[in-house]
Amino acid sequence: MTQATLDCKAAGASAHAIRHHYDLSNEFYALWLDDTRTYSAALWEPGDTLEQAQLRKLDHHARNCAAGPGGHYLDIGCGWGSTLFRLMRTYGAGSATGLTLSDAQAQYIEAQQVPGVTVKVQGWQVFDPPHPFDGIISIGAFEHFAKPDLSDDDMVAAYRAFFARCHAWLKPDCSLSLQTIAYGRASRADINRFVLEQIFPESDLPSLEQIVRAAKGLFEVVALRNDRHHYADTFRHWTARLSGARAQAVALVGEDKVRTYQKYQGLFTIGFHTGAMDLYRLHLRRIGK
Ligand SMILES: C[S@@+](CC[C@H](N)C(=O)[O-])C[C@H]1O[C@@H](n2cnc3c(N)ncnc32)[C@H](O)[C@@H]1O
Repeated sequence: MTQATLDCKAAGASAHAIRHHYDLSNEFYALWLDDTRTYSAALWEPGDTLEQAQLRKLDHHARNCAAGPGGHYLDIGCGWGSTLFRLMRTYGAGSATGLTLSDAQAQYIEAQQVPGVTVKVQGWQVFDPPHPFDGIISIGAFEHFAKPDLSDDDMVAAYRAFFARCHAWLKPDCSLSLQTIAYGRASRADINRFVLEQIFPESDLPSLEQIVRAAKGLFEVVALRNDRHHYADTFRHWTARLSGARAQAVALVGEDKVRTYQKYQGLFTIGFHTGAMDLYRLHLRRIGK
């Protein structure tokens, strides 16, 4: 694939691969995520519960987008909808639209019946927005936008396609608030086969350099934080919660799956703790009129 012909839909993880992870069981994830069912690195302050730290993270991204009454927001990779619900209930948004490739997540969001929230089981690659947005948030989805067999140039092209769409969908001077895991000291060759085959198939991580190259000319970087320790702490909480609810988890998804998830939680805790992986929060402002 060359940059000119790259099909960004084929470049990212397929819906099938995404469902392998996220459609496992809503009840299983509810056992070890916090009550908002947020599935990404929290933003911790001393004394926080997991839920407080998750809400602080959602507020961080909402503020980057200057979220406020009547605004229209898009959440790319909306999980079980915590950002969408926060935007409507706390910020009085006019609308909050979420994209996910997981049917189970979309069903959960629809069942909450929060006025103003719309969810679509659709990738950003094929989404056709009904109106421009005042802000776009994407938390923990960018990790799925490139497959592991892509060249460096093709990865940048896939990420650039994402940034180009966000640019086209945002009003002038508005922001994209992006959170993603990235390679830190590790490289592609170091990534455990177990993670690629059993946890996140068809997904590879970006490097910070690739993100910056891909966004060049479309977005300016307003702020960048590497909060890898916040993800290590989040994984520690998830690990403790899953062990505390182990019997229920086994009843829901079976012993093998629970063991697989416990191994994944352990590997990611170490990965963030040692700096093999980083956790970036990027505030990006749209360039141009
Ligand atoms: C780790 S979850 C994060 C969910 C949520 N942002 C949160 O923080 O709780 C990743 C999400 O990205 C979504 N996703 C993956 N690839 C996508 C794509 N191409 N377009 C839209 N969503 C995608 C998945 O369906 C899932 O909802």
